[in-house]
Amino acid sequence: MDHDGQALERLITKKVLPNVRMGLSCYEGITKRDVVEAYESCFRREGGPDNERIQYLGILKNTFANADVFVEKATKSDHPPRLIGCGFRDFVTSDKKQEAAKNHILEVVQTKDSSAMVLMYGNPGTGKTMLGCAALWYALTGGGTARYTTVSKIARDVRSTYRRDSSKTEDDILDAFISCKLLFIDEIGASLGTDHERSMFNDVVSGRYNAKRPTIMASNLGIEDVKGALGDRLVDRIREDEGSAAIPMAWVSWRGRKTP
Ligand SMILES: Nc1ncnc2c1ncn2[C@@H]1O[C@H](COP(=O)(O)OP(=O)(O)O)[C@@H](O)[C@H]1O
Ligand SMILES: [Mg+2]
Repeated sequence: MDHDGQALERLITKKVLPNVRMGLSCYEGITKRDVVEAYESCFRREGGPDNERIQYLGILKNTFANADVFVEKATKSDHPPRLIGCGFRDFVTSDKKQEAAKNHILEVVQTKDSSAMVLMYGNPGTGKTMLGCAALWYALTGGGTARYTTVSKIARDVRSTYRRDSSKTEDDILDAFISCKLLFIDEIGASLGTDHERSMFNDVVSGRYNAKRPTIMASNLGIEDVKGALGDRLVDRIREDEGSAAIPMAWVSWRGRKTP
């Protein structure tokens, strides 16, 4: 086996096969088939043009070298580990409503300087967290900062600065939520928790609105409850701004679906 072949083999045994899912969405342009074909081409078939091997090796090296960096960034930005590396291509759609929901979120991240506020709402298991995380991964692999959070996590992070030995201030924490390129606030509940949680949530969301940065939110509540939780001002913003929308995720839970 030539030098490139050995390097590729190392890559595959060490990284590609255990992390195959992660690599798939690392660049939207690379599919599982690309990885499998590269593998087949280099090891299963005898011979094959050298330049083809080298090209595959280049793709794989870049993909998986960057994958490590992106995974580290995502981990530091609180992305749920089970969804790190999950991209839009992993979100399976079986009807127009699902397609529309996916495309709307995709458009938010693809639109340069989008300041959209998007709310996904619907029953548990309908893919809200997954789509939000696909958006984060897209923004992150595009070189931006993309954070996952929840209402209670924002408040918890802020509260941690009230300790006397804290090196950060409340403003540091809020600024970090406000200044990242994309923020996904998951698990918006009926009451938004305590007054403190509500107030910190409002500071972050208004801050992002004023800074014209996009925010994606998700809630398991029905539309009336979620409107009550968010308050009239935010609901108006979701209604009126370019690209902003409340997206109903009204289909059966992925967990409970019947597979043919
Ligand atoms: N359209 C879909 N395609 C592929 N997997 C999906 C889809 N929708 C949901 N899932 C999977 O189902 C599970 C529940 O989805 P999740 O995003 O956590 O739902 P929600 O946040 O709406 O409760 C996850 O493992 C997720 O990856
Ligand atoms: Mg969820």
